[in-house]
Amino acid sequence: MISIAKPQIGEEEKKAVMEVLDSGMIAQGPRVKAFEEAFAALCGVRHAVATTSGTTALHVALLAADIGSGDEVITSPFTFIASANSVLYTGARPVFIDIDPITFNLNPALIEAAITSRTKAIMPVHLFGLSCDMDPILTIAKQYGLTVIEDACQSHGARYKGQRVGSFGIGAFSLYPTKNMTSAEGGMITTDDDGIAERCRVIRQHGMRRRYYHDELGFNFRMTDIHAAIGLEQLKKLELNNEQRRANARFLSAYLKGVAIPCAPEGYEHVYHQYTVRIPGNRRDALRAYLQQNGVGCEVYYPVPVHQQSFYTGELGYQITLPEAERAALEVLSLPIHPALSIIDLDTIVARVNEFMALPY
Ligand SMILES: Cc1ncc(COP(=O)(O)O)c(C=O)c1O
Repeated sequence: MISIAKPQIGEEEKKAVMEVLDSGMIAQGPRVKAFEEAFAALCGVRHAVATTSGTTALHVALLAADIGSGDEVITSPFTFIASANSVLYTGARPVFIDIDPITFNLNPALIEAAITSRTKAIMPVHLFGLSCDMDPILTIAKQYGLTVIEDACQSHGARYKGQRVGSFGIGAFSLYPTKNMTSAEGGMITTDDDGIAERCRVIRQHGMRRRYYHDELGFNFRMTDIHAAIGLEQLKKLELNNEQRRANARFLSAYLKGVAIPCAPEGYEHVYHQYTVRIPGNRRDALRAYLQQNGVGCEVYYPVPVHQQSFYTGELGYQITLPEAERAALEVLSLPIHPALSIIDLDTIVARVNEFMALPY
């Protein structure tokens, strides 16, 4: 079976973990600091703050931006549930706007109509490794005095007009094993704002500025040095792995037939966390079953947009229709794209997809 994801863990990561274990300092310590500095440098920002997951990175970023009860955050419905749930954790309400059917990212043309007196922030989600269209988002945010919190959990190293994601607003990254880089579990907040960085560090550590003096409600969202040691090694390989993902994407895009291939508009540097195609005409589920039966792992990200999840329609009372997100949920299929694919794997993926799409239906 060609797997849909494969973490790239080598001898370097193993050695780095053993060094931490031998050092006697295994909780948050010097490796976390070094990892934060290296990650900030990657994104071209002054600060990075490590946390326990992408979810906690988003949660802390929102709290640090003073988002809370009664506030609204405009975001995408076509994402992993954590984007919207992190807003709920703060007491604020996610307001969903529809997506651009080509990029799968939120459609900036729909933001202004969703702004109310309660709107505090916009949370663009750079889905599948592709940046959102940041210029209009930043213009609107500036005009209305809104904070931009980028959910960059799937887009380590991606660029928009030459600039790295996570550097346009407050960034939040996931370091889960299926991501373009991992620390096993982990998250990272990125910001150029000294005050926001300081708040994030305080919220991460039980609201504590001075040892055992607690100024506000915080959490234990600290990363360990064991995780940071893995993350540091992974960061060194990120550019090469992203380049390999792009090369794999070029191959698939050149040879796949009958499916709509992902786009990387001019000025965007895609890092292909996922290679997501669209299969129109109600054939997606049949193709998915065919590939799985024939040795090609694949997955639907995401079968139900957030506004249609039962918790959101039920308890939270969301009753909205967002046609593009709903159509995408029926038509998308992500194919393997990870850097460990061989040319034989790539050939096999193409052959299996093309032979299915050539079948009469
Ligand atoms: C878009 C998006 N946001 C947030 C998250 C949450 O990250 P984590 O799983 O590290 O908590 C993920 C992880 O899959 C994600 O894909």
